[in-house]
Amino acid sequence: VGVPLVSGLRGATSTGALLSSRLPLPPPFTRPFRVPPVLTPTRRDESGDHYEITQRAARVEILPGVRTPIWGYNGIFPGPTIISSRGRPVVVTHRNELPVPVVVHLHGGHTPAAHDGFPTDLLYPVGMPPAPHNHPHAGALSYGAREYRYPIDQSAATLWYHDHRMDFTGPAVWRGLAAFHLIHDPAEDRLRLPAGDRDLPIMITDRAFAANGTLRYPSLDPTLSHTPGVTAPYAAGVLGDVLLVNGVPWPLADVPAARHRLRLLNASNARRYRLALDPLPRGGSGLIQIGTDGGLLTEPVVHEAVELAPGQRCDVIVDFSRYRTGQQVTLRNEFGDRTTAVVMRFRVTGPAADPSRIPDSLAPAPASARTAAVRDFHFRHDTLHGRPGWTINGNPFSPAQSNADPLLGTTEVWRLTSDFHHPVHLHLGHFRILSRGIGGPGPYDHGPRDTIDLRPGEQATIAVSFTDYAGRYVFHCHNLEHEDMAMMGVFTTHPRTD
Ligand code: C2O
Ligand code: CU
Repeated sequence: VGVPLVSGLRGATSTGALLSSRLPLPPPFTRPFRVPPVLTPTRRDESGDHYEITQRAARVEILPGVRTPIWGYNGIFPGPTIISSRGRPVVVTHRNELPVPVVVHLHGGHTPAAHDGFPTDLLYPVGMPPAPHNHPHAGALSYGAREYRYPIDQSAATLWYHDHRMDFTGPAVWRGLAAFHLIHDPAEDRLRLPAGDRDLPIMITDRAFAANGTLRYPSLDPTLSHTPGVTAPYAAGVLGDVLLVNGVPWPLADVPAARHRLRLLNASNARRYRLALDPLPRGGSGLIQIGTDGGLLTEPVVHEAVELAPGQRCDVIVDFSRYRTGQQVTLRNEFGDRTTAVVMRFRVTGPAADPSRIPDSLAPAPASARTAAVRDFHFRHDTLHGRPGWTINGNPFSPAQSNADPLLGTTEVWRLTSDFHHPVHLHLGHFRILSRGIGGPGPYDHGPRDTIDLRPGEQATIAVSFTDYAGRYVFHCHNLEHEDMAMMGVFTTHPRTD
């Protein structure tokens, strides 16, 4: 079966079809960089930190002078950042004022199943009456508002939350339902990494705009929908020609000449990035990686460029004191083309005191564990009911079946093979990447991950530990169009009976 790829960019690096914007784009590096606002708890008590979020439609200015309708957590894109401390539970009450059901998933969270955002655990909008009869595979349904409870029993890490409704995650995230959730812990605080306004969350997304300022997305585009053979190319994934950092097109950030922590998040539907500084700082290689999806690496790794597939995070430190005052430093995307070849720019304002450091040792090395089971999963293109789709071991997603039943307290090795670029993501458990092809892990595979960037024709092995929380979780491709076109499976964790 041929993969119906229409590649807007260089074939080897792109993962979808490019949509172009139909209005003039602003010149890069003219809009100020901004960090999404931090959400204030409505209540803090011995049960934890309590938050309230309303999901609603809003019109915001993304391109200068243009009003763009979005769906946002509290009506903004990105949504507000939640900052938590390890061991302090968080309760978020989401109220749904959107015209569609939603599901909230804390990506990277070690979360009990009922709160993990299973794709059929729908939260219906306020005012929508309960459905007269339920589908046999309906999940746990809520109406108007519901609580999501997160124990936050995990190490410091850069997490994010986003929509996860079955079949509609791609368009919902594209319209704006994505935000950061950062976790701090005392062990990380003691390292004295750059903090405060030198700790910058950087959410990178690509989008395309219609002439009237609305976001273009294939199923929302009347000229494309219901036209057989025209929507098919987007099955590979949707790419836009505008790069947004925290919702701002190609921003400019003024930074003092000091070390900064950049929490890079690829929240794009399908685009992969290879990020590098231009020019390189004095002494070369400017990106000192300290963390990944699940938290800190055991020790820093120095890169000239870092690759980031959808869903992945990479925490790097950049020392701007290695540049001159006034110097402009561009964050380039080496996988990009024309408008997507640059992401943002930093401008070094001047000397500054810098109490931060980058210790040689960041976190304890993981304990190795005996393998309790080995499982094989093939991620590949298929034809489902005469339409292009994506499957795992030939099966499209079905909430009614479980593709794996690991026991809690065990570690399994999963062998993943891929016909294309598939960023494979597991809920609940972080994993270590053991190998790629006949080699060891790749240069970006260090540390605790929840998403692995599988490349065409590749086999990789990962070791996943299932520590606690019995229940039903998903694993899937984080190319959101692939996910919506059924490249998702269920695993069910069971308590050990012995
Ligand atoms: Cu970021 Cu299952 O998703
Ligand atoms: Cu995929």
